[in-house]
Amino acid sequence: MAYNLLKGKRGIIFGALDENSIAWKVAQRAHEEGALFTLTNAPIAMRMGEINKLAEECKAAVIPADATSIEDLENLFDKSVEVLGGKIDFILHSIGMSPNVRKGRSYGDLNYEWFLKSLDVSGLSFHKVMQVAEKKGVLNNHASILALTYIASQRTFPDYSDMAEAKSVLESIARSYGYRLGRSQKVRVNTVSQSPTMTTAGKGIAGFGAFYNFADKMSPLGNASADDCAAYCITLFSDLTRHVTMQNLFHDGGFSSTGMTEEVMEIFSKQ
Ligand SMILES: NC(=O)c1ccc[n+]([C@@H]2O[C@H](COP(=O)([O-])OP(=O)(O)OC[C@H]3O[C@@H](n4cnc5c(N)ncnc54)[C@H](O)[C@@H]3O)[C@@H](O)[C@H]2O)c1
Repeated sequence: MAYNLLKGKRGIIFGALDENSIAWKVAQRAHEEGALFTLTNAPIAMRMGEINKLAEECKAAVIPADATSIEDLENLFDKSVEVLGGKIDFILHSIGMSPNVRKGRSYGDLNYEWFLKSLDVSGLSFHKVMQVAEKKGVLNNHASILALTYIASQRTFPDYSDMAEAKSVLESIARSYGYRLGRSQKVRVNTVSQSPTMTTAGKGIAGFGAFYNFADKMSPLGNASADDCAAYCITLFSDLTRHVTMQNLFHDGGFSSTGMTEEVMEIFSKQ
């Protein structure tokens, strides 16, 4: 069911790789809610060509950009404003990548060049997006900017490796830039901390199935799906949440506040 929550709003959505991507679901939902937006991803991710299907469905232009490249981001904002016919009301940063995780390096044997790459792609790129947008003056007052994160930024989880540090950086940038853009333009900046979700990035973490099942049993509402995450993001882009800013918002079925559940007790009582 659609409510026209984003009617007349213009946005940019980063990170739709395939139909499992959280950004893919956000794009579909934003389209249903009346938004106009551009889709972007790293040029290398475009090779799969999947994004063109989504672009067609959402009547959106695709503008490639490596989110770590200032030049690419400048081009993305210039073209987006041109194609959309005005300044930007919402941005979704749905980007994560760690070469150390991808290549299975243990936390005690990290490659530091790759570590810096993880920080740049998954954390700093959020700052770059906002700095380029601010310098170009392309944000409308009351715009809403969101990034997706995971609770491993605050509590440790095996095999999340240097992505944990990258997510801590990301969440801190949301607070610092949220302050700055809030003062200057009443722009909101938040992170949504999502349940484990079956996507390409998610499944890249070793033992992800166990992660996923454990979180599901440790959440009174069960794991939140990508579709539900998309619905939540839409509310945060809408005018219904104009004073929510600088927050790390858990969208995790209650996982982050749960100490123990009956399901998990049952598993351990059998031992
Ligand atoms: N899947 C989960 O369990 C889970 C849980 C919590 C948070 N998240 C976060 O959600 C976000 C989206 O991930 P997803 O699960 O939908 O997986 P996904 O693999 O579909 O999306 C990750 C995206 O990041 C893009 N990307 C990587 N490097 C880039 C670069 N240099 N420039 C631009 N884009 C780049 C990829 O192309 C891809 O589209 C990530 O921030 C992820 O950490 C995921």
